[in-house]
Amino acid sequence: TLTSSPDAPRTRAAQSARSTKLAVIGAGAVGSSVAYAAMLRGSARTIALYDLKTDKVRAEVLDLAHGSPLASGTRIIGGDDISCVAGADVVVITAGAAQQPGQTRLDLAGVNVGILRSLLPQLLEQAPDAVYVLVTNPCDVLTVAAQQIVRAYDPAFPDGRILSSGTVLDTSRLRNLLSWMTGVDARSIHATIVGEHGDSEFGLWSSANIGQVPLADWADENGERPFDLDRLHALEQEVAGAAYEVIRGKGATNLAIGVAAARIVEAILRDERAVLPVSTPLTDYHGVSGVAMSVPSVVGRHGVERTLDVPMDERELAAFARSADALRAVQESLGL
Ligand code: LAC
Repeated sequence: TLTSSPDAPRTRAAQSARSTKLAVIGAGAVGSSVAYAAMLRGSARTIALYDLKTDKVRAEVLDLAHGSPLASGTRIIGGDDISCVAGADVVVITAGAAQQPGQTRLDLAGVNVGILRSLLPQLLEQAPDAVYVLVTNPCDVLTVAAQQIVRAYDPAFPDGRILSSGTVLDTSRLRNLLSWMTGVDARSIHATIVGEHGDSEFGLWSSANIGQVPLADWADENGERPFDLDRLHALEQEVAGAAYEVIRGKGATNLAIGVAAARIVEAILRDERAVLPVSTPLTDYHGVSGVAMSVPSVVGRHGVERTLDVPMDERELAAFARSADALRAVQESLGL
């Protein structure tokens, strides 16, 4: 393990501050972006970056540590020895094959479930009390696989401590688009993408609002109401296609998912109980069980504290069921 920065002063405040430890598994484009975003935002007192590729992870740890004093002063450690994960409060898993141009996220399921099967038991040895956040795709299918692997290791492992970033990023993409269209700050736009983090995701339009104005009633300065069903469907398509567009241009998506993961880590480490559309295995959620999908959930120190029973109209219920069917088909093909 490489320790790239001296131990922080052993004062009580430093000790308690240092208790928040984030471990990022995988030092590729996504993993290093998660660590970078978390360092800039001060999401955790210590960040450990782990990867099997010795030279790569060493370089990423050093490159992060070199900038830390100018950012949040986060203690950056890591390397190719999995013991650097020891005692982590949150473990973000990004290791695995990434989408190639034209590939869907579901195409990656077989390879990445295989990686998870060998990796997760080792991580649990190092961080048995951590909240595990799957970022590797297809993150919903991997969440179901992770729950099964963890249950074999510890049958009492609480459900809420296995989740994935799900449609947190897709929701941010949607709010960014709506902000461009309306001129309203994205943080005052309450519109959420739910379901699969993938091609079957969809918008919860019936409950979406901009500053408490229902989206369907939103009028621009000319009194025009831009958000009819056709426009909303086009928005859904644009958000669902966003990753493909970025991958076509730069080979991968990493910056936005890095921020999305850091945001989830903060909600956990600060026990915010913030509502985020993370993905967890569902049980009889609008009649859906046996798959993990994103729905608005309260996120705090135990991971998903609870999922919120958001109202869905007929269109949304049908889309939710279609999303579940798409994921279940892949799970069944893998024997999950
Ligand atoms: C994306 C990857 C994280 O949507 O699935 O950019």
